[in-house]
Amino acid sequence: MKKSLLLFLALCAPALAQKFPGLALTPPMGWNSWNTFANNINEAVVRETADAMVANGMRDAGYIYIVIDDAWERKTRDEKGNLVADPEKFPSGMKALGDYLHAKGFKFGIHSCAGTKTCSGYPGGRGHEFQDALSYASWGVDYLKYDWCEHGTADARETYKTMRDALYTAGRPVVFSLCEWGQNKPWEWATDIGHLWRTTGDIYDSYDGRKSWEMGWKRILDLQYTLVDSNGPDGLGKFAGPGHWNDPDMLEVGNEGLTFAESRAHFSLWCIIAAPLIAGNDLRHMKPEVHAILTNKELLAIDQDALGKQGFRQLADPTKHIEVWAKELSNKEWAVCALNTSATAEDITVEWKRLWPIEGEYQVRDIWAKKAVGDTTKPYTARVDSHDVLLFKLTPIKK
Ligand code: GLA
Repeated sequence: MKKSLLLFLALCAPALAQKFPGLALTPPMGWNSWNTFANNINEAVVRETADAMVANGMRDAGYIYIVIDDAWERKTRDEKGNLVADPEKFPSGMKALGDYLHAKGFKFGIHSCAGTKTCSGYPGGRGHEFQDALSYASWGVDYLKYDWCEHGTADARETYKTMRDALYTAGRPVVFSLCEWGQNKPWEWATDIGHLWRTTGDIYDSYDGRKSWEMGWKRILDLQYTLVDSNGPDGLGKFAGPGHWNDPDMLEVGNEGLTFAESRAHFSLWCIIAAPLIAGNDLRHMKPEVHAILTNKELLAIDQDALGKQGFRQLADPTKHIEVWAKELSNKEWAVCALNTSATAEDITVEWKRLWPIEGEYQVRDIWAKKAVGDTTKPYTARVDSHDVLLFKLTPIKK
């Protein structure tokens, strides 16, 4: 190919670029190393996690993306400016690891950063976007989580657009996960750039705690409302849909700072708000009850419903310690989740007739109890543990 033609292609490709279409039509599902391993990630852990996910049915339940978060890199690029995996943590290299994951039926995800350094101090992508995208393509990367540390005065939209263009030019379809923490309202501009975007600072394994910029899941859930200026009835929900999702951060289900009830409620509400379901616990050593939460098929179907509607808060009544959330599903069905916000067990009553805009009559199935519990003509009351939920699927009664 003539040099002038190559130059022409290099200049034109970004202008023609787009994000890869047809990906993440339902919220991505998988596992990410950060919440449990932080900087102590290595290839043995990744391989063992993949093996465990095959053996315990998580892969077949839909958890397909295995994402290696920060600290996989060597502290410096090579003499040509290429990213290099840390040879002690990843002795076989990223291509071999990608091959291993692909052979087991997974997709391969990796983390980098739009700034000059990652949050853990490894080389960032700034100024190397096209070069890095070629490395990722050569390793078989299918998912890129792109962080926002050390971004200086960079414009978020332009920076993420550059990386999108680089990925598109490299030619291997990649789910592009923007990890900009909601600082520049990505829900307003990222639909054409990424497939998901973080809406807040980081989650940690707490119900509603706060330490520096990390928050418990209930605080993050509340922010899905209060972050939007014109506080409409669905909060951030109106920005989500097939191929472009709000990301309230990865799951803490099964991690030690949460009670069983809090893990179950966290998972239920993440499914209601059509969140990406990226497990963050150690899947090699998981209690059966945690596995049962993560693989509950009826709940996964709610998160993955093809309509792609993010659920919303219908009711918050602090005097009765109750919040009710609802998600519209295909086939005129609804999912309804009632959370006990009290520090003690309470009798929670769901008054179906108050659940605007759910109109008409429905049969009700209690998903965690795995049984039919009547219909919406009468309110439903049950004892609910502190920070636990009732989770229902409503199916229209045909007349
Ligand atoms: C940021 C992100 C986290 C994680 C760390 C890694 O804090 O928000 O999800 O990727 O960086 O350093």
